[in-house]
Amino acid sequence: MAVRHIILLGPPGAGKGTQAKRLEEARGMVQLSTGDMLRDAKSSGTEMGRRVAEIMDKGQLVTDEIVIGLIEEKLNGGGQGNGFGGFIFDGFPRTLPQADALGALMERKGQKLHSVIEMQVDDAALVARITGRYTCGNCGAVYHDVTRPTKVPGTCDVCGSTDMRRRADDTEEALKTRLMEYYKKTSPLIGYYWAKGKLASVDGLAEMDAVAGAIAKVLDKD
Ligand code: AP5
Repeated sequence: MAVRHIILLGPPGAGKGTQAKRLEEARGMVQLSTGDMLRDAKSSGTEMGRRVAEIMDKGQLVTDEIVIGLIEEKLNGGGQGNGFGGFIFDGFPRTLPQADALGALMERKGQKLHSVIEMQVDDAALVARITGRYTCGNCGAVYHDVTRPTKVPGTCDVCGSTDMRRRADDTEEALKTRLMEYYKKTSPLIGYYWAKGKLASVDGLAEMDAVAGAIAKVLDKD
């Protein structure tokens, strides 16, 4: 399978993390989620982690400098051995300066962005998705109280861990701020990547398998 570097773009709850995990399994791609990296920093107990926690829990965006640094570290970190299917940028970039920085970083590394997949959803559906979400603290598998519960209550289907977590920013209150941040700072990226000829849109409200099928079609196009 050809190596594809892609961005999954969409508001909180659009299904970016869910589809990124599926792409990792199906195509050997590597998910680079700035949200996950920042949550790791949050739990590190450092001063930087405490500052990040304050911003994230309110639903605001962390500074461009911090997230660009995190991505740069990952891109320089190797891990692209046999069977590597490409990077999935999940939740990054989220601002125009981040998008410019990613373009420059990839150019320096001789990598090419294949496509930016916009996951289109209806805002009304996002509250139910976000407030019902829980994840496995061990392997990161994503579940939902109604649409994707674990087979055995409280036990991860993938790794068997019983460490199920809910995020501090998965409240209706924080979601409003997250959506506002998305529309003000991230949605301009739709036009930015359209103008670069990279944009593809999929219906994020469809069943998870149908969304995965639509993404696969984009990836299989030259
Ligand atoms: P981040 O962790 O990136 O969160 P987000 O973008 O708000 O997106 P989510 O993880 O909430 O949603 P998702 O689209 O991955 O949906 P999921 O697949 O889980 O960022 C968190 C915070 O970190 C930000 O607010 C900011 O503070 C900071 N941050 C991160 N990156 C940053 C950056 N680049 N710059 C600055 N700050 C940054 O699905 C949601 C639920 O819906 C799940 O329960 C799932 O099971 C269910 N679901 C998924 N797909 C479907 C479907 N098709 N049908 C039915 N249910 C579905």
